[in-house]
Amino acid sequence: MEPQQTLPEPAPVKKASLASTIQKALESKRHSKQPFPEYRSFIQHHYDGLAGKLTAVSGLLTGHALLAGQVLKDTAFDLRGCKRILDAGCGNGRHCKYIVKRADPNALVAAFDLSQRMLNRARRRVRGNRVHYVAADLTRLPYPDGFFDAIVCGWVLEHLPDPRPGLKELTRILQPGGKLLLMTTEDTFAGAMTSSLWHCRTYNRQELRAVCEECGLTWNRQLYFTHLHRLFRLGGIIVELRRAL
Ligand SMILES: C[S@@+](CC[C@H](N)C(=O)[O-])C[C@H]1O[C@@H](n2cnc3c(N)ncnc32)[C@H](O)[C@@H]1O
Repeated sequence: MEPQQTLPEPAPVKKASLASTIQKALESKRHSKQPFPEYRSFIQHHYDGLAGKLTAVSGLLTGHALLAGQVLKDTAFDLRGCKRILDAGCGNGRHCKYIVKRADPNALVAAFDLSQRMLNRARRRVRGNRVHYVAADLTRLPYPDGFFDAIVCGWVLEHLPDPRPGLKELTRILQPGGKLLLMTTEDTFAGAMTSSLWHCRTYNRQELRAVCEECGLTWNRQLYFTHLHRLFRLGGIIVELRRAL
């Protein structure tokens, strides 16, 4: 009688759940399908045009416009005592408005964005002439090393296919011990919808944390707009980071 052949056990296949398959299918792939300079130029035109105009309405619909004040307050990302504050990728000035309100009267406030039209929208939205605006790309910033002691970067990093060049620039211009409030789209169902609407990528929280550490930024504390956002994984990744001393 022939000896029976024992076949090796097949390697366990990790089954993707239906929800994660739908999530993946929904997510925009544009950032991975073209070289970064082309994708960046597409994003610039996207925000220069109708999409940029709509950020004011979408901010109201998602609640982000009002919720911005929840993270930019003394008990959350505290700006008191900061001397030079930057709004990185300021868009229509949603965060600038709160920075100007909460910062010390003698603090310098600067803001940049890739899109000149978004900068114009920010200038119209933020009263007074306290903010120093400049058009710039997050991966090549026109500021000296260690210039800022606080940076707010809201919903911009998802427009970089690789976050490292942007995070390294933010680390470079942050003074040692300086703090960064980073807000970005998470790899959740809500995040996938955001990704498909705004042609951006999403981030996995643990992976982003490792990349931040790699770029010299320590994950200090995670923030949430409300308890409900925390419970239902809504509102994206909001984290306060520190540049090592
Ligand atoms: C979703 S909006 C967020 C704007 C603002 N931070 C806020 O929270 O309302 C994204 C902004 O990032 C800007 N942006 C995208 N890629 C950028 C880059 N590589 N450098 C600078 N700004 C960029 C866009 O022009 C747009 O104004």
